[in-house]
Amino acid sequence: YLLGLGAFLLGYVFGSIPCGLWLVQAFHGIDIRNYGSGNIGTTNVFRTVGPKTAAAVLIGDMLKGILALYITSQFTQNPTVVAVAALGALLGHNYSLFLGFKGGKGVATGLGLFLYMLPLGAAAGFGVWVMIVLITRYVSLGSVVAAVVAAAAGWYLKYPVPYAVFGTLACLFVIIRHKDNINRLRNGTESKIKPGHLDTK
Ligand code: G3P
Repeated sequence: YLLGLGAFLLGYVFGSIPCGLWLVQAFHGIDIRNYGSGNIGTTNVFRTVGPKTAAAVLIGDMLKGILALYITSQFTQNPTVVAVAALGALLGHNYSLFLGFKGGKGVATGLGLFLYMLPLGAAAGFGVWVMIVLITRYVSLGSVVAAVVAAAAGWYLKYPVPYAVFGTLACLFVIIRHKDNINRLRNGTESKIKPGHLDTK
């Protein structure tokens, strides 16, 4: 239990690192939360300041989760403990220690965690995401559908049960965090993605 608690806290602290907020602040001198969708994630960074910083945010948010799992795996290979660390990282990103328990939507962080634990689920989800975003230009729609596909793949492809359980929980959190996006998709006001180039520095 102590190992599980440690793994959760480790994941939570790593996940809490708000790459989007800090990198946009450092490179562009603005608070990303005041722009676009107000989200701190890759999509809103791309929409607001453009692809270069967005790529850095994507890599940072993916790596922080992967790093938490890598460190955990140096102590134990127990899939339940690894899954608990992953859940900590996802919750840290969505409800960050550094942002008064506000945060992102868990897509890039989830992708990193899925790559480590459920790589074929990650691949399937990513493929679906690319297709949906190319066709509809709605990143949020791609993210929600990809999360469902990746989570389903976790069960279908016979990964360790704790990993599949994590995949399903991660999918539920992605859906919950996209509540506003889903409402906008339903009433036709969701914004289609295109690169931004705001730079106030
Ligand atoms: O990863 C988040 C994406 O699915 C939606 O982002 O900024 O359009 O709410 P955003």
